[in-house]
Amino acid sequence: SIDIASLTKQTGHTTLDYGFVNTASTKSDITYIDGDQGILRYRGYPIEQLAKNSTYLEVAWLLIYGELPSASELASFDERIRRHTLLHEDLKRFFSSLPPTAHPMSVLSAATAALSTYYEAESDPHNPEHVELNTVRMLAKLPVIAAYAHKKSIGQAFLYPDNSLGFVDNFLKLNFGVLSEIYQVNPVMTKALDLLLMLHADHEQNASTSTVRLVGSTGANQFASISAGIQALSGPLHGGANEAVLQMLGRIRDSGESVERFVERVKNKEQGVKLMGFGHRVYKNYDPRAKLVKESADEVLDALGVSDPLLDLAKELEQIALEDDYFKERRLYPNVDFYTGVIYKAMGFPTRMFTVLFAIGRLPGWLAQWREAITDPQTKIGRPQQLYTGAAERNYPGV
Ligand code: ACO
Repeated sequence: SIDIASLTKQTGHTTLDYGFVNTASTKSDITYIDGDQGILRYRGYPIEQLAKNSTYLEVAWLLIYGELPSASELASFDERIRRHTLLHEDLKRFFSSLPPTAHPMSVLSAATAALSTYYEAESDPHNPEHVELNTVRMLAKLPVIAAYAHKKSIGQAFLYPDNSLGFVDNFLKLNFGVLSEIYQVNPVMTKALDLLLMLHADHEQNASTSTVRLVGSTGANQFASISAGIQALSGPLHGGANEAVLQMLGRIRDSGESVERFVERVKNKEQGVKLMGFGHRVYKNYDPRAKLVKESADEVLDALGVSDPLLDLAKELEQIALEDDYFKERRLYPNVDFYTGVIYKAMGFPTRMFTVLFAIGRLPGWLAQWREAITDPQTKIGRPQQLYTGAAERNYPGV
């Protein structure tokens, strides 16, 4: 085992901080979190006010440009995004080279990286026109890629984007529309998905955003940085938790195990079993996004006429955990991922698409953070130090 205290002393100025628990990597004007109070603000605006009054696209503008857009700014942003939704036909063929079993997060990341090959001549991170254009391109095209990843996984034909529709409806149609049928917009789904995307839009220096900034600090372009961020998000301790929550709930239901017994196994850390969707590095209080998602879950399921025993199971789990000393002492509360899966499922998304939806939600934050880092004169290439604990110098055999 490593004697951290003595190593830190030996190295003088180097701080060893596994998981960056105490180390700020940047200053930022974008998102404020107070984890003890359960506060989240985008550019100063409380998430609760935005959830009630704003939209995903408006919040995207707010995060990227720092202020709420005027009506005409928002209309032209929306219009520009609609104009950029088409994927090059050759890029569409890229999907057929991937196996149908491919995880949609891998497909999203790979196709985002592949997208950069079409825009190499216009991808200079220090050219504001390129940055602007690729910001819009990614907001327009990543939802299309995400929907194609879904269509591919179920073996259905890709639809062309319908640019007469708003951002969320277009995305829903690309996922759930079928070539031979007229697609009916469902306002309940539109409102619910818009809210969920907005709630995920930024969360300061989390693992995927830090990845985006780190890759960007090397001078790599937006496509490369965002593609890496998508991979970072896919892990079950990060965005992948929303998929893991539904799998956990399904396993409890199918095994017939009581919720109390499952919680006991979590507390005993049996084979590393965790209560997925619980706990957060920053929130030591109820995640404000989880509160909003929980309210929305009841509303959406009611409005869609869906009743899902997994929602009741999730509520029961939460109730038991919140009253249990293990969770109280460690200040573990539901995070944003705990209830989202139940809503996505009610909308008709397969479990493997849940983290992709998170990625589409988080995209404006990644873009805003990448731009902030690129334009900050103090940004340097990210290059953490290490404390070397390996062998001292030794001779190669025979030397
Ligand atoms: N279930 C059971 N115990 C937990 C959980 C959990 N979900 N989360 C933390 N703990 C326990 C740990 O075992 C540890 O216990 P110990 O002190 O006895 O060793 C203690 O609480 C502190 O936990 P850490 O893992 O040190 O906290 P950290 O800040 O490093 O991890 C994390 C945060 C990764 C989110 C963790 O809570 C977790 O794994 N949660 C489940 C996965 C999840 O929901 N991830 C989504 C995060 S939010 C997001 O990315 C959108």
